[in-house]
Amino acid sequence: MFPNLFTPFRINSITLPNRLVLPAMVTRLSGEDGFVNKDITDRYVRFAKGEVGLIVLEAMAVHSAKSGPLLRISSDEYKPGLKDLASKIHDTSDSKVVPQIIHFLKIARSGWRQKIEDLSIADIQLIVEQYGQAALRARECGMDGVEMHMAHAYTLSSFLSKKNKRPDLYGGKSLDNRMRLPLQVMKRVREMVGNDFTVGVRFLGEECIKGGYTTEESAIIALKFAQAGIDYISLSAGGKFEDAVHKDGEVLYPYTGYSGDRCMPPMEYPDGYNLHMAESARRMLKRHGLKTPVIATGKIPSPEFAEEILTDDRADLIGMARALLADPDLPRKARLGETDKIVKCIYWNICKALDENFHQVVCGLWPKDEIQAPYSEDTIAPVWPVAEPLSVLVRSGNIRLSWKQATDNEAVMGYEVWRSDDNGSTFSHIYSITTSMWTDHLAASGIAYQYYIRAYDIAGNKSVSSNIVRAELPLEVEIPKEGPKPIAKPAFLKPPMAKPVVTTPENVTA
Ligand SMILES: Cc1cc2nc3c(=O)[nH]c(=O)nc-3n(C[C@H](O)[C@H](O)[C@H](O)COP(=O)(O)O)c2cc1C
Repeated sequence: MFPNLFTPFRINSITLPNRLVLPAMVTRLSGEDGFVNKDITDRYVRFAKGEVGLIVLEAMAVHSAKSGPLLRISSDEYKPGLKDLASKIHDTSDSKVVPQIIHFLKIARSGWRQKIEDLSIADIQLIVEQYGQAALRARECGMDGVEMHMAHAYTLSSFLSKKNKRPDLYGGKSLDNRMRLPLQVMKRVREMVGNDFTVGVRFLGEECIKGGYTTEESAIIALKFAQAGIDYISLSAGGKFEDAVHKDGEVLYPYTGYSGDRCMPPMEYPDGYNLHMAESARRMLKRHGLKTPVIATGKIPSPEFAEEILTDDRADLIGMARALLADPDLPRKARLGETDKIVKCIYWNICKALDENFHQVVCGLWPKDEIQAPYSEDTIAPVWPVAEPLSVLVRSGNIRLSWKQATDNEAVMGYEVWRSDDNGSTFSHIYSITTSMWTDHLAASGIAYQYYIRAYDIAGNKSVSSNIVRAELPLEVEIPKEGPKPIAKPAFLKPPMAKPVVTTPENVTA
């Protein structure tokens, strides 16, 4: 069914069982001590059970600077936990695992942040050494490789950035200067781990800030890394401090501005929004006779789309972060031809909001209070209590759906909403929700809509489709005498969560 997706893929001395990659995703499941704990282990073993080809472990610090909950690989004391994690992942399936290693600078609640211009040459040399030592630890822990984090708002990304204002050989307008430290880091990492160990890099295909670099330069950055012997390139986008929105008394979160949206594209962005970056890098590599694999990531929601990307030769490997968080079993279900059982991510970004507030990162579609994705081998689908469970109401310029709750032999996990805007010729899945009503805020007047819903359980078994309801918003909305009422924000824009607890003056997210 997915011939390209399930073709094993070799990188250096490892072979991935398929071409799906879990890009790094901070979980906030560790303590501030940075040690691997049971929750972290359960999270990644769950991904391995779902059979993703490559697991990139969430960013872990190569140094000991303070931060919120974040894994660390900055000294030997972290090795036993990481070793155990790697071995438990390997015992679970053929998934391969690499940690993402990160260096970040200090930030404070006042909005102040340390800049790369503040670093001395000795500081820079220390960073090179810290990356080298961390990579060696990854090898000693039985990891399958290591990924250097050079994306988003962190130290090495700031060196690559077109906003790098250092006046010396590590900055300024010259791309060679901006690449000097990243390439020195890479050289040291390679010296420490040897040629037979997979070394990958993640950097930005586009900075997505005014005056930041675009694909014009990221293709050259890709080429330089490939010529220096990198084993894979993973492209991300944006996530910068430059356009982050500062909230009083809180540390800057680099995913709050436009560049943050480009990094973790929300539901209103088109699928595959960042794909052109991978295409541009690959074109450059091919022109220079290089076959370094490129991972494309950014709202690639389904195995069908992933297969299409591979068939069209637009990327070598497919990164899926939030889609795999929503359903870690997506790869296994696709391999077995059970795509209808996949619990679909709706790019609601509850996970991102949790990360921003230093809460444990979970998916908003999981059962309430669960900190791991549920698992079940059940095959019995939910059933509707009545023949026509779905009803529709057009009110105050909105189309509102409500339905009777389905029942299941285990538990109903949620409902998929399907919509047609062409008189029922084609229906698309547009939303999933755990409650039993929903308002279509994207509906416009003058279009005849049809809707049906499907209930799904923990294993992803889907009920039969409900009855179809039809609705059309009137072209003219009658304005009530007291004036129009403000439209309530959709619930997902304001996830119900407690005020963030920040325990240190400095904090970081990857
Ligand atoms: C909660 C959360 C944490 C993330 N943490 C990291 C991280 O540690 N390192 C990193 O390079 N990217 C991180 N990302 C970005 C993802 O790897 C990915 O590039 C992004 O979510 C877009 O991919 P997607 O559309 O498949 O989710 C994170 C994303 C989310 C939602």
